[in-house]
Amino acid sequence: MRGTLDIAEAADRLKQGELVAIPTETVYGLAADATLPAAVARIFALKGRPADHPLIVHLGHPAQVSDWARDVPAVVTDLAEAFWPGPLTLILKRGRLASDWVTGGADTVGLRIPRHPLTLALLERHGGALAAPSANRYGRISPTTAAHVRAEFGRELPLVLDGGPCPIGIESTILDLSGDRPRILRPGSIDARALARVLGEGPELGAADHSPRVSGSHASHYAPRTPAELVEAEAFAARIAELRAAGQDPAALCFSSAWPEDPGCPAIALPASPEAYAHGLYAALRTLDALEADRLLIVAPPDSPEWAAVRDRLRRATA
Ligand code: TXA
Ligand code: MG
Repeated sequence: MRGTLDIAEAADRLKQGELVAIPTETVYGLAADATLPAAVARIFALKGRPADHPLIVHLGHPAQVSDWARDVPAVVTDLAEAFWPGPLTLILKRGRLASDWVTGGADTVGLRIPRHPLTLALLERHGGALAAPSANRYGRISPTTAAHVRAEFGRELPLVLDGGPCPIGIESTILDLSGDRPRILRPGSIDARALARVLGEGPELGAADHSPRVSGSHASHYAPRTPAELVEAEAFAARIAELRAAGQDPAALCFSSAWPEDPGCPAIALPASPEAYAHGLYAALRTLDALEADRLLIVAPPDSPEWAAVRDRLRRATA
């Protein structure tokens, strides 16, 4: 599905309450018109997602923020200018259009303007806002190609807007601005340092006790079906031998600078830069999962700030 005609059809179908899978720069989303309760309910049903887990509302233009949020802090203008369209979701106090079925009953709403030409064209054509979680069954690996979305839902989701592979490959950074201090609820490719430059202060990290629910923060998220574990590069060979001795067939996800000569099992090596690794991560997990190995070993990337978002996803994939 490419081109303006398809975008027009997708916009019409969304207005009629149907679901459309949309490409974004992060991962594919499962979109519904955010002002239609029956359409949004269909997202929860198709994903198998608990009703109290809020959805991100995708906008086409920063001017829409005041319809969806109230008491918007002045810094939102600067953040929008610096990072939108782009992989940053802002949690704000909810406004006039943000209803319980989108916020999961919370008093806050998540907003972002995605950076993908097809989806921006769709948002413009549609003229409203699209509620969209990642287009995967609840708790599973986010899709980064249209083929992943089709594998996930098959005929249950006929309309998939194919925008090619997602350039970033992991979900947006979630920044909570509804509390006293800015707080990163989910790390992503826009990191704390980049945000601090615009905020004028370093954001807090991680969900606070009072923070709203973040379904992606539940332990077993972004999970392959194969039981997966993180292993330090130095311990990799010994762990493979141990599994083999126990009669198990492992598979492995490595990164190229820690690539053993002979991994001793089916393996994928991702590039050793955090951006390139993130771009390939979910496709690699899907490929390895399909091997139906007994165990998936994931070599832990370095414990440094630029790897924070990737390590976060790997922690959850192995929880
Ligand atoms: O990159 C992304 O953010 C992708 C693309 C499609 O935009 N979307 C995505 O949606 O990852 P989802 O639903 O899979 O994850 C969104 C996360 C969830 O963990 C949800 O709980 C959290 O955002 N969230 C949404 N609204 C929230 C709110 N009002 N307060 C706290 N967390 C919220
Ligand atoms: Mg998700």
